Amino acid sequence: MHDIQDCINRVAIQARPLATQGQLAGYIPPLMRVDPSKFGFAVATLDGNVYTAGDADEPFSIQSISKLFALVLASSREGDSLWMRVGRLPSSNQFNSLLELELESGKPRNPFLNPGALVVSDLLYSRNTQMERAVVTLMRELSGNPSINYDTEVAAGEFAFAHRNKAAAYLMKSFNNFNNAVDEVVSAYCAQCAIAASCRDLAVSALFLANAGVDRDGRQILQSRQVQQVCALMMSSGTYEASGETAFSIGLPIKSGVGGGVLAVIPRFGAVCAWSPPLDKTGTSIAAIKAVELFAIEMHKTVF
Ligand code: DON
Repeated sequence: MHDIQDCINRVAIQARPLATQGQLAGYIPPLMRVDPSKFGFAVATLDGNVYTAGDADEPFSIQSISKLFALVLASSREGDSLWMRVGRLPSSNQFNSLLELELESGKPRNPFLNPGALVVSDLLYSRNTQMERAVVTLMRELSGNPSINYDTEVAAGEFAFAHRNKAAAYLMKSFNNFNNAVDEVVSAYCAQCAIAASCRDLAVSALFLANAGVDRDGRQILQSRQVQQVCALMMSSGTYEASGETAFSIGLPIKSGVGGGVLAVIPRFGAVCAWSPPLDKTGTSIAAIKAVELFAIEMHKTVF
C-alpha cells in the first residue's frame, strides 16, 4: 500500500506550513512551551499497518481528544442512563462556554463541550476516584503502548487556571447534575486532558471505532450501536462550533484538542491522527485539520 505512504508524505508537505497562521493554547501555561513547528501524521489501517510522517511518534498533550476515550468508558459502563446527564446536541458556542448551561438547566449539550466532559468525568469518578488512571489504562490497552501516561506538570498548570471549568461544575451542581467534590473531579479531568500520546498511539487506539467496536485483540470495547452514537457525536460536535464546517469539508467523525491533535475515524478502513500545535479561534489545529482533509480527499475517504 505504497499509495497511503506517498499520500501522507505529500499531505505533510502541503499542510505543515499552515501552522504559522495559528496560536498556541495560552490558557494552559505548559502548552506555551511546545515547539510550534512540530508536525506529525499517522494512519492506522484495519489490516494492522501504520503509516507515519514527521513527528508521528512524539507524545503530545491530547487534551480534548481524551474526552473521546472518557466517553467510551462512560458509554460502556453507564449505558443509556448516561444521556440523562448529558445531551447529544451540537452547540454554536465555544467549548468552554457557560451560556447554554444556565439556560438549559445545567444539562450540557454534548459530552465534548467542557461541561459535558466534566459530567462524564463526574460519572467515572463516582465509580473510581482514580478515573484519570482508568482512561490511561484504556488507552494503553487500545494502543498497545504501556508507556502512555499523563503529564503531571501540564495537569497542575491547567488546574491552577481551571476557574471556568470549576464554574461549570458548580453551576451543574446547583442544578443537581454534579455529584462529587468539584475540585477533586476537575483535578482528575485536568489529569485526563494532560495525557500525552503520539499520533501513532491515537490512530491505533481509535481503530475499534472503525471496526464496529472490536479492537486489535478482538475485544468488544463498545457495542456497534454505541460506536455509531459516539461517531455521530464526533461528527456533530467533535470540533465544537466548527463541526458543521468540518463535516462539510471532510465528512468524517473527528475529535480535536487544544494540544494540536486531530483524530479522525474512517469506518471499515482505519483511523488517522495529525498533530501541529498552533490553533485556530475554535481551538482546532490549523495544519492538522487541513492534513486530515487533504488525506480524506486524496484517498476518497468520507462516510458519505
Ligand atoms: O478543559 C480544557 O479547556 C482543556 N483541558 C481541553 C480543551 C480542549 O482541548 C478543546 N479542544 N479543542
